[in-house]
Amino acid sequence: MSAQPQNKSHSRPVKRARRITAPQISARKGGEPVVCLTAYDAPTAEIMDEHVDLILVGDSLGMVVHGLPSTVGVTLDMMILHGKAVMRGSRTAMVVVDLPFGSYEASKEQAFAAASRVMMETGCQAVKIESGTYAAETIEYLVTRGIPVMSHVGLRPQSMHVLGGFKARGRTTEIADEILANAKAAAAAGSFAVVVEGVSEDLANRVTRAVDIPTIGIGASAQCDGQILVTPDMLGQFQRVPRFVKKYANQLDATREAVMQYALDVKDRSFPGEDNLYHFKKADS
Ligand code: KIV
Repeated sequence: MSAQPQNKSHSRPVKRARRITAPQISARKGGEPVVCLTAYDAPTAEIMDEHVDLILVGDSLGMVVHGLPSTVGVTLDMMILHGKAVMRGSRTAMVVVDLPFGSYEASKEQAFAAASRVMMETGCQAVKIESGTYAAETIEYLVTRGIPVMSHVGLRPQSMHVLGGFKARGRTTEIADEILANAKAAAAAGSFAVVVEGVSEDLANRVTRAVDIPTIGIGASAQCDGQILVTPDMLGQFQRVPRFVKKYANQLDATREAVMQYALDVKDRSFPGEDNLYHFKKADS
């Protein structure tokens, strides 16, 4: 019998020597689910690195880190700053950085300029774009020039002003067919994976069956080829989160209680305590 340790539980991290690549993610179609989360800073990326396959530096950072009302105000410089931090914190997960609103829609050349800058300045391995069928030409242009692309269909937060908010999408046959067409176009154009956000379970399953690349669900279906959540949402940093979020921690209460206790300790002078103070022996000079 071999004495090799067996990795029986999917929750136990697998030791990896180097970063997961786009082709390795693509090869997971129909196989072991792809574990993805967002991160925006080095310490969080370091904690999650060995447990996830893919870290997305999502433009959700505009809302969950910078307090913006939507992702529309996020800039390329913001994405690059956070992308660099996540690359410094992670070691073996694949890192994908979102192209923000206004940085890629005007032309395929504009998209290449933005994506190449993101990849060169952060060292990340791919970019993500929110894509309708119109984006197929851009995706193909980027992929043939060495830039792996993850697409994003369904609820596309950058289009919230056209869509009328952050509501789940695909209630009518017409819109469901459009979302299906967007995913097929993204796959045919060479995307290595596609995020499917805020659609019915049934539509997410149709998309998953229709494309030959992994579907990464968020508010979609357990039958997608992988899942992603916005990390501060799943850590319970906010009271109100979308229905599809499962809170795995309660950071809101933990942070509030810690800050309240700190304030009390400062006011009654019990902090700093003996353990937190320096006492130097008298030196000669
Ligand atoms: O910006 C983001 O965090 C995303 C995920 C919700 C997929 O696009």
